[in-house]
Amino acid sequence: MKHMNVNDYKKYISAETMMEPNSVRILEELFDKYPLQLTSDDLILDLGCGKGLTSLIIAKETGAKVYANDLWINADENKKRFAVWGIGRQVIPVCEDANNLHDANNLHFEEKKFSALISINSYHYFAGHEGFFKRKILPYLKDGSVVLIGVPGLKDEYEGRAEELLSDWLGDDAYIFKSPKTWEALSLLCDRSACVVEIKINDIYNKGSNYDI
Ligand SMILES: C[S@@+](CC[C@H](N)C(=O)[O-])C[C@H]1O[C@@H](n2cnc3c(N)ncnc32)[C@H](O)[C@@H]1O
Repeated sequence: MKHMNVNDYKKYISAETMMEPNSVRILEELFDKYPLQLTSDDLILDLGCGKGLTSLIIAKETGAKVYANDLWINADENKKRFAVWGIGRQVIPVCEDANNLHDANNLHFEEKKFSALISINSYHYFAGHEGFFKRKILPYLKDGSVVLIGVPGLKDEYEGRAEELLSDWLGDDAYIFKSPKTWEALSLLCDRSACVVEIKINDIYNKGSNYDI
């Protein structure tokens, strides 16, 4: 995998497609550190793909087929965007249906379908409970799969917090942001293989505004 050139994606970045923080920079950093060696026969699950900017980049950079899953954004809307971007054959929106396939907590795929799971700026919304990764995701990953997750969080857990203030200011959202230590304990550790490589908070907010790349 060659170094990703963020300028290749400038024309796709807009207030409509960028759902924050800067997913283009986060993917650049992850791919630099953990280059993927995949082919057009491999399938990648982009979990919580939003408006599909991450799916576009994953598809272009890896050459693999991408399943674009999201809860809030309608699959038909993403399908239209993927057609306009010329990736309609390579990126498949995971459609809503009677099985609620679009909810990360309720996925239904064949076992060991995907070679990689990538999730940018989304994991904190649905994965912050014990056993999520092992029960809801791992069954769909091939042995030796790669998992790349970029998630906004806290360097350290809140200390000396006043619960009333925290929940008044932030509501339930106060609790979705966690430290790397908590994520490590909570989610990725599993028994089929040793999955956790590294969890760290990146300094994306120091790299300029979301639309600067
Ligand atoms: C901030 S956006 C990130 C989108 C994209 N990955 C990016 O970085 O531009 C977070 C996304 O998480 C998705 N999400 C939240 N809860 C979800 C769930 N239970 N299952 C699937 N997606 C979920 C939302 O639909 C939303 O589009």
